[in-house]
Amino acid sequence: MPDSPFTFVIPAPGAIPSRVDNHIQRRLSAMQGQFLDQVAYAKMLSESDRLIYEVYEIQRPQIEGELLMGISIVHPGKVGQEFYMTKGHFHTVLETSEVYYCLQGEGYMVMETPEGETSVESLAPGKVLYVPPRWAHRSVCSSRQQDLITFFIYPGNAGHDYGTIEQLGFRKLVIEGENGIEIIDNPRYQAR
Ligand code: F6R
Ligand code: ZN
Repeated sequence: MPDSPFTFVIPAPGAIPSRVDNHIQRRLSAMQGQFLDQVAYAKMLSESDRLIYEVYEIQRPQIEGELLMGISIVHPGKVGQEFYMTKGHFHTVLETSEVYYCLQGEGYMVMETPEGETSVESLAPGKVLYVPPRWAHRSVCSSRQQDLITFFIYPGNAGHDYGTIEQLGFRKLVIEGENGIEIIDNPRYQAR
């Protein structure tokens, strides 16, 4: 039996959808081992367990044929030289894609395939990013003041593999260097 069509609104500014079924908050403590500067990470965490990013999900059955939607908000900030970012993941069903539409802020999507191809795309309001099947993805907020806000949509059966990135890291990092924003090779990347 099909459901009824439905609508919701993503207001500007703020972007918290008028329909929300699940609100996820990820704090510094959930990002163990992810940031390059582990000393800065431990020091920050001993001071307070800061809120790094939030996700507002519109729930649908997690099955093929469905689409999962929501809003991702990465707050501004840095751990050492590295900007706040999402954990990042591969989809468990590797052959599934995702679309991101940037609503607010400045940032990057850091991406890579299991075979080692990498891509880092900048995000700005109005920009649509297509993440093809097989590409792991992580959003990074590079603004000093503004949240990075994106709308995302992906297949219901995709699932999330966080473990691979937790173990290996991403091959590329986005940091604030002496001359501004830099995309560097991750010195702590663990080859497969
Ligand atoms: C879903 C997706 C986004 C992220 C969100 C938070 O497949 O890519 O909704 O889930 O940006 O990032 P993660 O899931 O990496 O904590
Ligand atoms: Zn995803």
